[in-house]
Amino acid sequence: MKKAILLLGAALLSGTLALAQRPRPTADLPKWEGVADTPQMGWSSWNCFMTEINEDLIKATADAMVELGLVDAGYVYLNLDDGWHGERDASGFVLEDREKFPSGMKSLADYLHARGLKLGIYSDAGDFTCACYTGSRGHEYQDAITYAHWGVDYLKYDWCFTTNANAKGSYTLMRNALRKAGRPILFSICEWGVNKPWEWARDVGHSWRTTGDIGPAFAPVPVSYDEQGRRKWKPMSVLEIIDINEPLREYAGPGHWNDPDMLEVGNSATVDGIFYDMTDSEDRAHFTMWCMMAAPLILGNDLTKITPETLAIITNREMIAVDQDPLGIQGLRLKNEDGVQYWFKPLADGDWAFCVMNTREEDVTLTLDWSALEVNDALSKRRTDFAGTTYSVRDLWHPEAKPFTTRVKGRRKGQFNVAARTVTVPTHDVVAYRLTPVK
Ligand code: GLA
Repeated sequence: MKKAILLLGAALLSGTLALAQRPRPTADLPKWEGVADTPQMGWSSWNCFMTEINEDLIKATADAMVELGLVDAGYVYLNLDDGWHGERDASGFVLEDREKFPSGMKSLADYLHARGLKLGIYSDAGDFTCACYTGSRGHEYQDAITYAHWGVDYLKYDWCFTTNANAKGSYTLMRNALRKAGRPILFSICEWGVNKPWEWARDVGHSWRTTGDIGPAFAPVPVSYDEQGRRKWKPMSVLEIIDINEPLREYAGPGHWNDPDMLEVGNSATVDGIFYDMTDSEDRAHFTMWCMMAAPLILGNDLTKITPETLAIITNREMIAVDQDPLGIQGLRLKNEDGVQYWFKPLADGDWAFCVMNTREEDVTLTLDWSALEVNDALSKRRTDFAGTTYSVRDLWHPEAKPFTTRVKGRRKGQFNVAARTVTVPTHDVVAYRLTPVK
């Protein structure tokens, strides 16, 4: 009897131990760390080519990214957006479209890696992608393992055809799958800000879209209606996006960025018979503002046909350094006076980026009165000190110009006066500076 009880006890104990050792199927895994300490930089196929993508185009783009010096400037991700998916195989594993990508995704990844680039790919948390290719819903772990096997480094994950799905749950599921697959992959959340991802995605993804889709339009596009009186889809303009993205600055930081969508520098588009285009001034303002907002810098133009003006904008190293500053603090709009916006971004080592954007329809000449531009930023706990400190000011769009200072020597010994500076900001353009305290 005693022996039987002992045996029963041992059996129960070993059963409990076996249970305790079994992996918990619902355990969450952390997102990959260290892949987006500064906002990601690269190129994506969507804004210019939509689903018309193929191996030749991607390889030509990769070659151009190297030859134009874009990789050296930091644009290392080459991202395939919608349109690369083929069918799933009999076991449910996703295949690439072999007509578009005859050598396959793994070979494309090798081609990019050999040139110092990284491969980005696109999928969707729903049954289909936004352009109606196969989605990842129900195949998250299979897709993550496939991407890791191909050598993918970046996943943009969209939100079309997700009826009844919970956004936080869906994105967390894919985060877990990416981690489990074992290859560090940057996870770019794209649900257009509809579920306020800034409130829950800090530990889920590395960036989240804050708005609907951008178009190559600087100022808001008028609303239009179809014959049934329904409002037609229209792209979002640079200025509308800035207004939505700016108040979200407290949510951004190293490893988790607000994403105001990909760049339209150098692009034009026809949507519903309407032609959209931006001037070089507007492109410069758009690029500057994305840098001031510590946004991911994902180019979207045809790199095989780039103009010298566009190239000069996207390779401005000092502007890129503002975006990539290690402090990782999104800039703030200090004031907006009749469409003239004053922006500051705290940078490492006591520096500040400062810019004035003119959204008006005419050029504006104004006096920069530093005493009226003092900033006290509770978020970064940083403040300017124009009264007590002299800053050396470098013009980021005219690096050849001689730097000037925010204070000049007064008449009396040791006395300094705050200086004023008159500048002209052309219509739909910016002036941008880096301020460095003079020691
Ligand atoms: C959505 C996204 C875009 C792009 C398209 C692809 O609209 O917001 O950035 O990825 O889908 O179909």
